[in-house]
Amino acid sequence: MRIKHWIIRALCCAGVITHVYAQANDAQQIYASCSACHGEQGQGNPALNAPAIAGQYDWYLKRQLQHFANGIRGSHAEDIHGKTMVPFAKLITNEQQQVLAVYISQLKPVSANVELNGDLKNGSRYYQAKCGACHGGKAQGNISFNAPKLSALDPQYLLRQMTNFKQGIRGQHQEDKWGRQMAMMSTTVSDQELEDILFFISEQAK
Ligand code: HEC
Ligand code: HEC
Repeated sequence: MRIKHWIIRALCCAGVITHVYAQANDAQQIYASCSACHGEQGQGNPALNAPAIAGQYDWYLKRQLQHFANGIRGSHAEDIHGKTMVPFAKLITNEQQQVLAVYISQLKPVSANVELNGDLKNGSRYYQAKCGACHGGKAQGNISFNAPKLSALDPQYLLRQMTNFKQGIRGQHQEDKWGRQMAMMSTTVSDQELEDILFFISEQAK
């Protein structure tokens, strides 16, 4: 009786494991086309302007891939870096978007490890007043507000996105509901405030 039970359990387990493994393998294979820019571990590559994506929420990653593919992000004439992403987002199917987003979300986030100058006290104050309600007290993101994690992103990428939002290069498309919300928020911070906010965000990953 006991032996039979064990055999059944072993078979079930093996089934589950091969199933999960096949999925991971697939995602890994597709991800190979992304790693040239985003890095093998999804750590990003500032020299190529490719942001860190490891450990970002799957719902956010999937939305961005859809938006790049559908011309909702990266279609503005001045969005040079967004444009590089478009053909790669178009290469993958909807199903692959889902599998990839889950795979990337499970990679361990790597801290950008950049030394910045700023005023932490002011940065914390500005951040909590203007960003924290949506992005979370430690820049960890919040699904309830559709707001991504910011803590693992390098300051250069963050600054570019804020500038793009402010200048109408990102978040202006009619169907970009969440981007439009963020574009509105981006106009509420001054350059000086943003410098301290980015310093606060970079400290959260340490
Ligand atoms: C040729 C280089 C390159 C390749 C290959 C590439 N990307 Fe990108 N990716 C970029 C750049 C550059 C950006 C930043 C765009 C911007 O500044 O708005 C980006 C942005 C993104 C974003 C948005 C991140 C965020 O925080 O909003 C996601 C998600 C993403 N890429 C996923 C992928 C996936 C998945 C693949 C593979 C299918 C891939 N990328 C392949 C260069 C690349
Ligand atoms: C009302 C809620 C809200 C507030 C407040 C807010 N954001 Fe956002 N933010 C969002 C949402 C939603 C997105 C996702 C946009 C999308 O899906 O393209 C976003 C996206 C971003 C991005 C793009 C991240 C990426 O990976 O490309 C940055 C950078 C950002 N926010 C920074 C900030 C900063 C800094 C503040 C404070 C000055 C702030 N946000 C305040 C809701 C908010």
